[in-house]
Amino acid sequence: MALPVFSMSRAAPVFAGAALLLSLAAHAQAQTTPASSEQVERGAYIFHVAGCENCHTDTANKAAPLAGGRGLKTPFGTFRTPNITPDPTHGIGKWSEADFIRALRDGRAPNGDHYFPAFPYTSYTKMTDADMKDLRAYIFTLPAVAKPNLPHELGFPFNIRLGVMVWKWLNFTPGPLPASSTKDEAWTRGRYLVEAVGHCAECHTPRDRLGGLVKSMWMAGSKDGAEGEGAPNITPDPATGIGEWAEDDLAFALKIGMAPTGDTLGSLMADVVENGTSKMTDADLAAMAAYLKSLPAIVHKP
Ligand code: HEC
Ligand code: HEC
Repeated sequence: MALPVFSMSRAAPVFAGAALLLSLAAHAQAQTTPASSEQVERGAYIFHVAGCENCHTDTANKAAPLAGGRGLKTPFGTFRTPNITPDPTHGIGKWSEADFIRALRDGRAPNGDHYFPAFPYTSYTKMTDADMKDLRAYIFTLPAVAKPNLPHELGFPFNIRLGVMVWKWLNFTPGPLPASSTKDEAWTRGRYLVEAVGHCAECHTPRDRLGGLVKSMWMAGSKDGAEGEGAPNITPDPATGIGEWAEDDLAFALKIGMAPTGDTLGSLMADVVENGTSKMTDADLAAMAAYLKSLPAIVHKP
């Protein structure tokens, strides 16, 4: 009898050890490595510049941050943003890092569904993997809210998710920004902040009838930008754009929310400044301004 008992007691720790390793591995797969405070801090910065809360918080109804429900009016109908708090049932609490990256990079849900481009993944796709991971780490530190999602209110045929597949084929190039060999570091950083994280073009570039951004009119202003509101021309054209603004003035305007003329930046831009650009470092604001001032000037009064 002694022998089997002996070998069992030897085997037990091995089993326990293996089980622990397996459960740790499973945990790592679902949760990824625990975020360091530096990672969470970096994620918070990206979160603000990316303006996630501007759409995912129903401020008009004083709802909890990121719990969704805000209505976004578009020519195709009204979208209701989903809950992106870490709630496991109603939010994204069960999402792995890969699920999160797939949503931002490819505009696809964990079940493979295509997201409507009212979610500006068309810009976020240009972000780095590292920034997406930091962003998720930060969002997962925020309070979970058990609030169910509301359905979108879209007319036929725009309510058909499969149609988005065709739209993406026409209008969407997934993947991070290519490196630039000819421009300096500040310009490259500015381009990244404007085009990828800040998604400025989503409001400041006009759209065609199917809602695709018109590339030849990049940042030249849009009559019906987000939520049926126009956004001005921010190319360096002196008459119709911001050509008269010095680079420093532009950076300062984005920091304090006031144009060099003394006009307050209002409507949707007020949120962009308050939750986003006002929290950016001076170096990043200067980089953004340098990039915007380097764009081709386009004469266009939206
Ligand atoms: C301009 C408004 C807008 C902004 C800004 C925005 N989103 Fe969204 N987001 C949406 C809409 C609308 C949907 C729903 C898309 C759909 O149903 O196809 C969505 C969907 C999502 C989803 C999918 C949720 C689910 O349950 O399937 C995630 C995740 C998400 N957004 C994360 C983010 C993050 C992170 C940011 C900031 C980097 C962000 N969003 C910024 C509008 C926005
Ligand atoms: C959600 C839509 C939206 C996004 C995103 C957005 N803007 Fe704006 N922007 C606007 C609107 C609307 C105005 C006009 C504000 C007003 O009339 O007071 C504006 C105004 C401006 C102005 C002032 C132009 C002028 O002639 O007065 C600048 C500069 C500007 N935006 C830069 C940016 C930059 C840089 C980004 C990206 C970080 C950005 N915007 C992202 C909607 C947006």
